[in-house]
Amino acid sequence: MPTTLAAVVRAPGEPVRIEEVALPELGPGLVRVRMAAAGVCHSDLSLASGKLAHPMPAVLGHEGVGHVVDVGAGVSDLSVGDTVLLNWNPPCRSCWHCTHGEPYLCANAADASRRVWGTLADGTDVHPCLGVAAFAQETVVPASACVAIPADIPPTEAALLGCAVLTGVGAVRNAAQVRPGQSVAVIGLGGVGLAAVQGARLAGAAMVIAVDPVEEKEELARSLGATHFLTPSDDLSRRIRALADGRGVDHAIECVGRAATIRAAWSCTRRGGTATVVGFGAATDTLTLNALEIPHFARTLQGCLYGSSDPATDVPELLKLYRDGELDLSSLVSRTIGLDDVPDALAELHAGRGARSLVEF
Ligand code: APR
Ligand code: ZN
Repeated sequence: MPTTLAAVVRAPGEPVRIEEVALPELGPGLVRVRMAAAGVCHSDLSLASGKLAHPMPAVLGHEGVGHVVDVGAGVSDLSVGDTVLLNWNPPCRSCWHCTHGEPYLCANAADASRRVWGTLADGTDVHPCLGVAAFAQETVVPASACVAIPADIPPTEAALLGCAVLTGVGAVRNAAQVRPGQSVAVIGLGGVGLAAVQGARLAGAAMVIAVDPVEEKEELARSLGATHFLTPSDDLSRRIRALADGRGVDHAIECVGRAATIRAAWSCTRRGGTATVVGFGAATDTLTLNALEIPHFARTLQGCLYGSSDPATDVPELLKLYRDGELDLSSLVSRTIGLDDVPDALAELHAGRGARSLVEF
């Protein structure tokens, strides 16, 4: 049985450790991928801390790119040597959602994380984070979770397409459908929010108000397309409305995942505006909306999963924007690390520092 080193969390709240994991024989429909690069996303942190429920123990990482080294029986559309981007939400293409234009809401995609991915040295079965398990030298994923991409893109940049960029740019383009000349507030400037800032610029937004408590993010946010930068305060939504003609922004994109920031996103939009919630928060963190304000302001509050995207079509589009110099991926990579540094990178993320840490294998 092949073994691989992987970043494992044994139970919610326990420290993340690099452990040796034995991978089972490659089953039908599965693909073995040698990882090239993987990004550290806030969802990895939420999963490790228990904020997001997930089968445990788990191998973390769900944003990555690598090379196919083996294909299981029945896999016809991938070959050894292919460069693949991993998709943590692979559509089955046959459920109600998949056949009604909503592959990102696939009813069967979540099953992938319940799969037994490998076995720890003490015999315990381990599950793949969101079906992907990207923080491993080698991972095994369903063929449907692989999007073949050209081999010439730096892996640390390509990896970002797998979660942060698909999610952030997709939220703006697919879910909010920002139009040229509109105003957009992006709350939270991690990998996802900084991608949303770029999405707003690409959509032709005239005003992009970027919000984050970490002031060092201002320069990067402005270089990616923000026209304004604010640090949050109790009256954040009033300050955003003041910037947007006193009326409020057309769109707010929430990329933190907290009730307070969702509330701010809702309150800073104009009458008839739309707040799009991208951040994944805790089930215990609740939001209050009163019965008058909902009809009175005629706003829309919508959730957005995986950028409402279909990686099969959105990834090629994003790659074209990248090739045309419109989409900046390299600026989102704040540092590259080794697999051993994953626990440290999760701590950095907790502190809100940097854009994205990328594991290079
Ligand atoms: N207001 C604005 N920004 C905030 C606030 C706040 N009150 N609190 C924290 N932030 C900022 C942090 O400083 C950080 O820059 O939000 C950002 C979150 O970024 P990351 O931790 O890098 O998270 P990211 O990977 O971008 O994911 C964002 O989207 O997919 C979900 O689960 C993911 O909920 C997470 C969110
Ligand atoms: Zn993610």
